[in-house]
Amino acid sequence: MKVEKEIQELYEKLLQHNRKYYQDDSPEITDAEYDSIKDRYLKLLDANPGLGFPVVVGHPPSEKFQKVEHLSPMLSLRNIFSEEELIEYIERTKRFLNLKDDLEFLCEPKIDGVSFSARYVKGKLYSCATRGDGKVGENILDNMKVINGFPIEIEDVPDLLEVRGEVFLDHDAFRTLEGFSNPRNAAAGSLRQLNPEITKERNLQYFAYSASKIDGIKRQEDVLHFLSERGFMTNPLRLSSLKVPEIMGFYNSVYRRRSQINYDIDGLVYKVNSLKLHTRLGTLSDAPRWAIAHKFPSHRGKTILEKIKLSVGRTGIITPVAHLKPITIGGVVISRASLYNEDELKRKDIREGDLVTVERAGDVIPKVLEVDTSYRTSQKRFTFPDKCPSCSSTLIKKNNEAVIRCNNRKKCSEQLIQQIKHLVSAQAFDIDGIGTSHIAFFIEKEFISEPADIFCLDKHGDEIKKYDGWGEKSVENILKNIENSRKISLEKFIFSLGIKNIGEKTAYALAQQFKSFANWFNKMSTLKDDAQTKNEIRNLDGMGSCVCDSLVDFFSDPDNCDMIKSLSDHVIVSDHSVSMGGLLSGKKFVFTGTLLSISREEAKEIVKKAGGIIVNSISKQVDYVVAGEKAGSKLAKANELGITIIEEKTFMELAVNNTPALEIDTNSNSKIK
Ligand code: IVH
Repeated sequence: MKVEKEIQELYEKLLQHNRKYYQDDSPEITDAEYDSIKDRYLKLLDANPGLGFPVVVGHPPSEKFQKVEHLSPMLSLRNIFSEEELIEYIERTKRFLNLKDDLEFLCEPKIDGVSFSARYVKGKLYSCATRGDGKVGENILDNMKVINGFPIEIEDVPDLLEVRGEVFLDHDAFRTLEGFSNPRNAAAGSLRQLNPEITKERNLQYFAYSASKIDGIKRQEDVLHFLSERGFMTNPLRLSSLKVPEIMGFYNSVYRRRSQINYDIDGLVYKVNSLKLHTRLGTLSDAPRWAIAHKFPSHRGKTILEKIKLSVGRTGIITPVAHLKPITIGGVVISRASLYNEDELKRKDIREGDLVTVERAGDVIPKVLEVDTSYRTSQKRFTFPDKCPSCSSTLIKKNNEAVIRCNNRKKCSEQLIQQIKHLVSAQAFDIDGIGTSHIAFFIEKEFISEPADIFCLDKHGDEIKKYDGWGEKSVENILKNIENSRKISLEKFIFSLGIKNIGEKTAYALAQQFKSFANWFNKMSTLKDDAQTKNEIRNLDGMGSCVCDSLVDFFSDPDNCDMIKSLSDHVIVSDHSVSMGGLLSGKKFVFTGTLLSISREEAKEIVKKAGGIIVNSISKQVDYVVAGEKAGSKLAKANELGITIIEEKTFMELAVNNTPALEIDTNSNSKIK
């Protein structure tokens, strides 16, 4: 009776959290917390069969969407958390197969996104669905079609093919959005809504990781290769291995490098490589026996929340920040954590003096997860101030925004501090040695009242040296660094302005399009009434209309135009083509023929990531022609014009050398470490 009660409670909890996760896209607990409830539930079910409780694998599809029945159920994965559990899993699986020899596994990152299942009929994309309850999903076909690089038509495939994978948002794209607590929820919110225009703007990406049966394909590794050859994005990080130490080495290396990977990974998935063995192993009630998820540990700890303060961002967004009694989590001392926004604070009823659980995941800002109310000392709920902590102007909340803002952009010193912090950051003017406290000091002493003033600090050099804490040397150093940073590429200049929705990638694309500062600035100043330029911007690869709207908005304010003019008077903005570093940067590439080791889509992505430009036709402006198998007329024309032609092998070497933190399967049979 007691066990039954616990199972009932766990079941209800799972239903409730499934609803928050799958339907509302706003989970209240972390994945680790969810996993521990689910693990306990499944353990109790295993030990107490026949009680009639179902195995929960998802949530019924929302009524908003048409329903799609999956050809085969979309299962979930059982989790492990340690090497011991891995050894146990392998032993169990070998016992099941009555196998003495080592089993080969393909190890892949577990992407923390939203799963999809796409059906192709005679090579044409026919339907695409979310997981739903595992049997029936929501039709997201129209949204999937606008995801960059998602194939609509494929050749040389079975008449009926189902391809599965994960849709995700990378960290750059996530940073341009507001109102989502993490990239997964943002990806789910972008996909599970009815307007493909919105999906398009969000710059979603995907990796395909499995397919229905294909004649002649015998291993999971070959499935990925098959998909990649037909234009699907597949994750280049993978390892096939028979040995636990090697698998653990890969696990540890991906875990350590997690912060350099631009999308969220919550562990690895180990899959038995042989597809024949998949059939033999079959499935448990909710997960296959041939795969297991090895989750990354979550870093958490409990500490006292001493104070709740508001921080003011560059564009005036107000974020509540928890000031904590310092605590070491995973070797790092944490004294600040994010409290998201006002709604979240209210919902969790977090108060000053509370004992809170803090989580640090990857390189993201630590978060306050929950409150232990049994230690509560304060009777008073926290009330969100209605004045800006920096300039005391009244805070506002626009109807369509989840965030609260200070709208006093011109006079709010904290916004100016943040704006200048952004301006001097490594991705912008890259001025070393200027931190928040220096900027605050310059503003307080009125040496700086707008971004351009940074470049006039030399006028105040002697005066600065007179203040306490400013050594002769340090002032000279800062002034020298400023002097050395006066020359900047157009894309960095555009990025440095901190315009809403203009991240590094977007700034780069704008620089590619407009080439010179003068041209860009002229076009932007009249953008509001220039339909042609607006169209040009909207047509740039991966850019939605939100970028265009932000630019129109920003340049409609004459103060912003003045700010840019005055900044440009003090710096040298070099034209796009001559300002690049790197071997692939600014170089134009044409692909012709079939690539063998990766798909053309992936190759293009590599070029773009390394700063190159993809063009479709051969002209004298093209720098490289990459010639794959059976290259045709383009190759002949390139020869005629004397353009450098490189083979696939050379291209892959070039690409690997020019793409930081990327390891590519240059030979489909080789292992990657
Ligand atoms: S294979 C039978 N591979 O994790 C399920 N799943 O917790 C086979 N996921 O629903 C899934 N990355 O949405 C697989 N490389 C990967 C994955 C992956 C992320 C997701 C997937 C699945 C969930 C299970």
